[in-house]
Amino acid sequence: MASASSSSLLYFLAFLLIIIVFHLLLKLVRLSTHVIKKEKKKKSSYAGDELPLPPGTMGWPYIGETFQLYSQNPNVFFASKQRKYGPIFKTHVLGCPCIMISSPEAAKFVLVNRAHLFKPTFPASKERILGPQALFFHQGEYHAKLRKLVSRAFMPDSLKHMVSSVEAIALDSLGSWEARSGLINTFQEMKTYAFNVALLSIFGKDETKYGEELKSCYYILEKGYNSMPINLPGTLFHNSMKARKELARILSKIILSRRQRKLEDEDYNDLLGSFMGDKTSSLTDEQIADNIIGVIFAARDTTASVLTWILKFLGENPSVLKAVTEEQEYVARNYKERCDEGLCWADTKKMPVTSRVIQETLRVASILSFTFREAVEDVEYQGYLIPKGWKVLPLFRNIHHSPEIFTDPDKFDPSRFEVAPKPNTFMPFGNGSHSCPGNELAKLEILVLIHHLTTKYRWSSMGQQNGIQYAPFPLPINGLPIRLSLKPTSPHQFL
Ligand SMILES: *[C@@H]1O[C@H](CO)[C@@H](O)[C@H](O)[C@H]1NC(C)=O
Repeated sequence: MASASSSSLLYFLAFLLIIIVFHLLLKLVRLSTHVIKKEKKKKSSYAGDELPLPPGTMGWPYIGETFQLYSQNPNVFFASKQRKYGPIFKTHVLGCPCIMISSPEAAKFVLVNRAHLFKPTFPASKERILGPQALFFHQGEYHAKLRKLVSRAFMPDSLKHMVSSVEAIALDSLGSWEARSGLINTFQEMKTYAFNVALLSIFGKDETKYGEELKSCYYILEKGYNSMPINLPGTLFHNSMKARKELARILSKIILSRRQRKLEDEDYNDLLGSFMGDKTSSLTDEQIADNIIGVIFAARDTTASVLTWILKFLGENPSVLKAVTEEQEYVARNYKERCDEGLCWADTKKMPVTSRVIQETLRVASILSFTFREAVEDVEYQGYLIPKGWKVLPLFRNIHHSPEIFTDPDKFDPSRFEVAPKPNTFMPFGNGSHSCPGNELAKLEILVLIHHLTTKYRWSSMGQQNGIQYAPFPLPINGLPIRLSLKPTSPHQFL
């Protein structure tokens, strides 16, 4: 552990040195061409036809304002900038000039109305780890084709068949927590739960056969995700790249065995079935692997983080917990009256109180604080220039915490969602053609877990109560350690 971190420090210093030398060289080149350029510019531009950039500051060369961003909670940086400059401002972070936007109108402009002018963009190292052919790195025809296949697997019609399997995974998780004398780390356990549900949605019935193998590879892969992208033996990044090759190999094996069994496509409602069943555009094994790894990545830590926040907020708000528990007990009485063992799809649609708790948690926690786009050409927005190649970041968290949109925004109050939010003011899953296609699955697995948790168990948080950590999603400090126990069975449950 220690040697790994000191070697990555060395790499980092070397990397920094290269940047500084490169920067000095560039300065020299610039200096020599400066005079000529200036002459040319005078001739080609007419006064008045150049739009101004949005307000804001760019910080130091290369480093920009990255230190200001990371020396504190990033949301404080965004919020103070917004107070100073308004809903559109420029800055320079992580090596890129950026335009930050934080009004519903601007978000709609970038994500929906003019989406074709703003392509999704990720650091190259993340693309290499997740797989360059995963849908979120693409635009146009390839993206549309994949999105159709992914959406098909996550549509209510497909999810309907999954409810009892998700329920089995939820009951299994809760049982295993209790078996460990109830002392658990909420985030760690929710990650396992979300991982198992993701595998179920991808591989359906085959899930259990490959689960452990896939899990151990994926855990190595994710360790390198936020490391320095240097592919040399011994680095976390290198291990990650090796793990992703291994994952691709396992996936090819699964694909091959499905092909050999030559079952009808109808037998598979899962994501892999959707990818493989598409005869017209037949995806390569590599494309399928990249997209499956991408889906696991997009589905796991996000959902686990939301579930962790829900437990925290329910624990802190006894009256809300009481309302949720009553709603869930009512649902349970209903299916017992029908002589069903558990939940069906229709039951999950009759949980308005719990659904509002999910919405309010998504708003307050805003686990994806923002998304990245890049302008594909010079774009004008409200009299400002968004230059080609600049990053554009819609700041979801700022919108979700705007006092003009949500009164008393830091307060956890699910009843505010009794009135539907206005368009583009509440976008936990984004909006437009790159919005999250798995949102229905996420809601389903959260509802199912909350159902069994609140009807059968009680819990209290252990250790430090307040504080947020970034992993990189905001999380209750230390992942919310809790003690969980079965509720004493109350006599009215037998009536
Ligand atoms: C997405 O944008 C469309 C068009 O502006 C809007 O009708 C819709 O409500 C938006 N979705 C969300 C979640 O805000």
